[in-house]
This record gives sequence, structure tokens and C-alpha cells, in this order.
Amino acid sequence: MPSTTQLHPIWRDYPALQPELQDVMQLMTTNINIPDKAINDAILAMIHGGGKLLRPAYCLLFSQFKTTDRQRMVALAASLETLHTATLIHDDIVDDAALRRHHVTIQKQFGKDTAVYAGDYLFVVVFKILAHYSSSFKSIQLNSENMEKILMGEVQQKDRHYHVDITMAEYLQQIQGKTAELFALSCFLGAYESGQSQRFAQRARQAGLAIGMAFQILDDILDYQESPAETGKPILEDVAEGVYTSPLIYALQTDAKADLLPLMSLQGTITPAQRQRVQQLVIDAGGVKRAQELATKYTQEALTLLEKLPDQPARTDLINLTRQLLNRHN
Ligand code: IPE
Ligand code: IPE
Ligand code: MG
Ligand code: MG
Ligand code: MG
Repeated sequence: MPSTTQLHPIWRDYPALQPELQDVMQLMTTNINIPDKAINDAILAMIHGGGKLLRPAYCLLFSQFKTTDRQRMVALAASLETLHTATLIHDDIVDDAALRRHHVTIQKQFGKDTAVYAGDYLFVVVFKILAHYSSSFKSIQLNSENMEKILMGEVQQKDRHYHVDITMAEYLQQIQGKTAELFALSCFLGAYESGQSQRFAQRARQAGLAIGMAFQILDDILDYQESPAETGKPILEDVAEGVYTSPLIYALQTDAKADLLPLMSLQGTITPAQRQRVQQLVIDAGGVKRAQELATKYTQEALTLLEKLPDQPARTDLINLTRQLLNRHN
């Protein structure tokens, strides 16, 4: 593996952050040492496959308001990205996804057993990094609590698979657990571990939660987009998997419901053409547009909190990045 990797283009406008994100990648890479070469190589390929590194970036940015031990912050950031990567590997098994970061998924290439082990191994690495670099038990405790929240979000989602009466409140609860809580933790840890007050760190957490909500809503919108070229993952998968997200939930509140229900009742047997029909109905019913408004609302909530931060370069970066994510296509 190369000692430096090409960072995602999102970081082009954040030169100050680039070296630390490279260090995050480096630290993750040196901690992957599983004797099974196939699994080791698969994990390394995934790590170097062009992920956006958003969670470590938010952690690092929130740690920049104080002078602090940068190596320790990089390590904490690396543990967050490792945790995220583990959840993605397992998510692709659960979602039976064939594509991730423009590459064939581990589960598709090596089978679900190898993918389970690869994800499990990364959970171990999370704690190996934390045990080595963390200054307190606090981060370890928060990380394990966070794993539980992600799991609960996923379990709630599974409980509501293929339920056409899923409510917006249930959806929001699921995405908070499976996605927003990790953004919240990333922001909190950056602030807290750099020596900020509880009050500051809690505000960072609040901002992270709103950023994460907007992020998952956008991800769900991208599943209804016209072309998969930019995300590097499949589109129109959620409806087939029984994951009913905000664009569809909104569309079900309109007259389009009568046309949508027969298609949704096909569940996993829905054909590509029928998925496209769902996509069109959802778009025409204004579901995507309303979901975009919801993502905008959460982004606005985050920006209001970020604007109250001390006037330092990190504040500008946090604001710009959060705005940028609302218009992302990948
Ligand atoms: C994908 O997260 C999973 C979700 C929470 C939607 P990202 O879009 O951050 O994935 P990578 O790391 O950039 O590939
Ligand atoms: C995110 O949800 C799952 C986790 C954070 C574990 P998705 O299932 O929508 O993520 P993608 O779209 O496959 O990246
Ligand atoms: Mg998925
Ligand atoms: Mg999923
Ligand atoms: Mg998705």
C-alpha cells in the first residue's frame, strides 16, 4: 500500500487539514495486521478506496480551537474512521450491496463470512487504537456506547423493513442511531479531548447530530438520483431492501400512494424497471424535494450552532464543509 493516498476531492479547499487526514490514513493502515492475507488486503483496499473521511475531519476540526497533542487527536480521529469502515463492511452484508466506493464490496468479492470477520477485526482495531492513545476511559466508554447506538438504529430499521406505514418520527429515530450519533461523537471527541469545557463539547455534539441527520437524509436522497456514477454505490436499492426513507415516506403522503403501494408490495422481487417507476413516482410527488427541505432544515440548525463558535479558521472550515455537504452528489 502507498504511504500516502489520494484524498477525496472534497479536501482540495482545506489544505490545512490534508496532512492530518493523511496521518489518519497512515495510522489506520499500520494498525491493520491480520495474518489472513486475503482479508488484510481487502480491508486495506477498502480503506484506500476513496472514502470521504468526514468523521475524522469533523473530529480534527473541532479539536483545532485549542493547542493540543496532535498525534493523539489524529489517533482518535483514526479510531472513528475505523469504526465507520467496520459498520460499512457489515452494512454491505445486511444490504446485500455489490458496490462500495466504486469497487466490488468485500461481501460480494470474498463472501459474507470473510466480510463479517473483516468488520469484526476492524472493531478490534478501534479499541486497539483507543487503548494505545486515549488519555482517559471516557473515549473508550463513549465509543462503545456509540456502537450500541448504531446497532440499535440498524435494528430499528430492520424491525420496520417493508412497513408501508412507517412514520417520519420512526425514520428520524433510525437515522439518528445509525448515522447521526457517530457524527455527534466525532464532534464531541474532537472538542472534549482537546481540553474544551463540557459545555463547549456538548454544543459540538449537538452540531454533529444535526450534521449527521442532514448527511443521512442526503444519502437517502442520493439513492433516488438519476445516475449512480458519482456515489460509487448502487442506486434504487433502499426500496428493494425494504428501507423506506424520507423521499418515499413523503411521497406516500400524497396521491402517488395508490400507485406506489402495489410496487412496494413486490418487496425484494421488484424489477429494475419497477424500481425506476418508484423513483419517478417519488420524484413527481415532490418526495425528493421535501426531503431536500428537511436536510436543509438540519443543516441550518447545525450552521446556527457553528456560527456561535470562536472566530478562528476552524470555524470557517466547519461552516464551509457543512454547507458543502448539503449540495454533495457523492
Ligand atoms: C456512508 O457514509 C454511510 C452513511 C452513513 C450514509 P459516507 O458517505 O461517509 O461513506 P464514505 O466513507 O465516504 O465512503
Ligand atoms: C448507513 O446507511 C449505514 C450505516 C451507517 C451502518 P446506508 O445503508 O444507507 O449506507 P450506504 O448507502 O450503504 O452507504
Ligand atoms: Mg447500505
Ligand atoms: Mg444499510
Ligand atoms: Mg444509503
